[in-house]
Amino acid sequence: MESSHVKITIVPNGPARVHCKKAEITLPDGSTVTREGDIYLCRCGASRNKPLCDASHKTVDFKG
Ligand code: FES
Repeated sequence: MESSHVKITIVPNGPARVHCKKAEITLPDGSTVTREGDIYLCRCGASRNKPLCDASHKTVDFKG
C-alpha cells in the first residue's frame, strides 16, 4: 500500500477501521492525539471515547 493511500474497512455493526502505521487525530478543541497502528473510529455514536470506538456499539446493538 502506498503511503498516500488510506484503506478504511467498515466493520459490520461496528466501527470504521483505518489501516495505518500511525495516526494523528485532531479533536474538536484543537488538541491532537497520536495512535500507533490501526485505529477504529466510532460509527454508532455511543462511544465514551469519541472519535475512537470503545466497543459500546455492542451494548447499544448498533446495526449498520
Ligand atoms: S462503533 Fe464502537 S463504540 Fe461506536
